[in-house]
Amino acid sequence: METASTKLFSLDKKTAVVTGGTGVLGHAFVNGLSQAGASVAILGRRIEVAEKLAREIRTKGGRAVAVQADVLNREQLLEAHKRIIQEFGSIDILVNAAGGNMAGAVIAPDKTFFDLSIVDFGKVVDLNLMGTVLPTQVFSADMANRKKGVIINIASMASFRPITRVVGYSAAKAAVDNFTQWLAVEMAKKFGEGIRVNAISPGFFLTEQNKALLTNVDGSLTARGNAAIQQTPFGRFGRPEELIGTLIWLCSDASAFVTGVNVPVDGGFNVYCGV
Ligand SMILES: NC(=O)c1ccc[n+]([C@@H]2O[C@H](COP(=O)([O-])OP(=O)(O)OC[C@H]3O[C@@H](n4cnc5c(N)ncnc54)[C@H](O)[C@@H]3O)[C@@H](O)[C@H]2O)c1
Repeated sequence: METASTKLFSLDKKTAVVTGGTGVLGHAFVNGLSQAGASVAILGRRIEVAEKLAREIRTKGGRAVAVQADVLNREQLLEAHKRIIQEFGSIDILVNAAGGNMAGAVIAPDKTFFDLSIVDFGKVVDLNLMGTVLPTQVFSADMANRKKGVIINIASMASFRPITRVVGYSAAKAAVDNFTQWLAVEMAKKFGEGIRVNAISPGFFLTEQNKALLTNVDGSLTARGNAAIQQTPFGRFGRPEELIGTLIWLCSDASAFVTGVNVPVDGGFNVYCGV
């Protein structure tokens, strides 16, 4: 039965694109958007993984399509855009979830800033910042024409305060937060209040891109993994499905007057001074 509040949070008849939809958090986003009624385009480099997820959604009665693209490749993004429009007709929601840290841009405990590989620093900034800006340019142009749409960027705890050792990732995610604010104003001023741009900052969640930093090969926590948990008042890592409520709120009319914010979903990490 539909109540006023389910209607407010409903994504029925909406189409969402999730970049990095094949990743751990991206998978949760795809499921959450589908459960709220959206048709979902799962965009990833690994088409067979995206297709498996799309089949899973369709088996549960949802609508989903898998589309292959690298978020740093404009041609592939334009091709993906064409395919999604053919399949669903329009794009209402873009979730920029492709991203992550890279081992080469992390300062090892026995090294200093002067050992940093500038090439790897550039790669992690490219993936997280350019990998957000480029898909946004490709997928939100139709939103601007229709004066309606929602863009969600995935930022990080590193957007608020730099995290030790991960210099490139911290710089990139701070820039994603800044871009979110900038674009929120740009869209509202040029195309009206129908286009909203917000970010979600997950705390610590165990996924592919941070596994090597937070866990040992036997699955036990590294010193850094333990430090992340100790700095989280809830005393644990987040569960991917715990991001869904915030995502649906920000994608739906329930947040109609909200733009330019970056919502931490972090078990209190960001407000804990450690004392
Ligand atoms: N896991 C966490 O604790 C955490 C915390 C804060 C922010 N985030 C962010 O959440 C997002 C999702 O990451 P995750 O933790 O689920 O990691 P993940 O490694 O499981 O997923 C990342 C996804 O991005 C895809 N990807 C990487 N480079 C790509 C490219 N060039 N083109 C297209 N896709 C590409 C990967 O294939 C993967 O599917 C990232 O932006 C990450 O920085 C994660």
